[in-house]
Amino acid sequence: MNRDVIIACDFADRASTLAFLDRFTEEKPFVKIGMELFYAEGPEIVREIKRRGHRIFLDLKLCDIPNTVMKAMAVLSRLDVDMVNLHAFGTVEMMRAALKGLTRPDGTRPLLIAVTQLTSTSQERMERDLLIEKPLSEVVIHYAKCAREAGLDGVVCSPLEAGVVHEACGADFLTVTPGVRFAGGDVGDQVRVTTPARAREIGSDFIVVGRPITAADDPVAAYRRAVKEFVG
Ligand code: C5P
Repeated sequence: MNRDVIIACDFADRASTLAFLDRFTEEKPFVKIGMELFYAEGPEIVREIKRRGHRIFLDLKLCDIPNTVMKAMAVLSRLDVDMVNLHAFGTVEMMRAALKGLTRPDGTRPLLIAVTQLTSTSQERMERDLLIEKPLSEVVIHYAKCAREAGLDGVVCSPLEAGVVHEACGADFLTVTPGVRFAGGDVGDQVRVTTPARAREIGSDFIVVGRPITAADDPVAAYRRAVKEFVG
């Protein structure tokens, strides 16, 4: 799988998403569709963006009993998306069931990526609310190893963690990394950010870039800059 830039299409509805994508007349970026857009517009927005020729990362972060996740993944697989995700928190058994549901009759399937601990979870919150008393970094690596054991393709993590995840899980285990900002750009609400060039150095396989592209004066130029710095 080649390194690539995924644009986080965090728009509220179909009209603003398609208006944004219409600006790309020469390239077909890999896009991420999250809960907000999916719950607002339903599966038809996925089909429509797919028909336009984009690859799609459907970021719905499933977590439920194995049988339910397996059936839901089968539905997502039929939408012909390229990448989906779930919470590693759901256990290895759930991740294995997800993989089973995702695999199409011809043996192909979208990439399956695990969320380890959400970056919004602090050490303090994890200990207090989840009763997990190990260091957060250890928990992230343990969840990544569980995802690998279940046969998943990789994890969502900070670009800063991409190196250690590869060390623990192998060079071919994918790291999909948000929290990317251009040098000198607005950080927004992200705390630990990395430039596309640095993410490449550390070993990210995919960077997920939202506002630095979607809110840019010239989104196409911003996308091209990200590709140039990250893919080369
Ligand atoms: O606009 P920005 O570049 O911050 O968008 C990053 C995208 O990645 C958003 O869709 C956000 O929800 C997602 N994300 C994140 N941090 C995580 C997981 C997902 O920023 N740990």
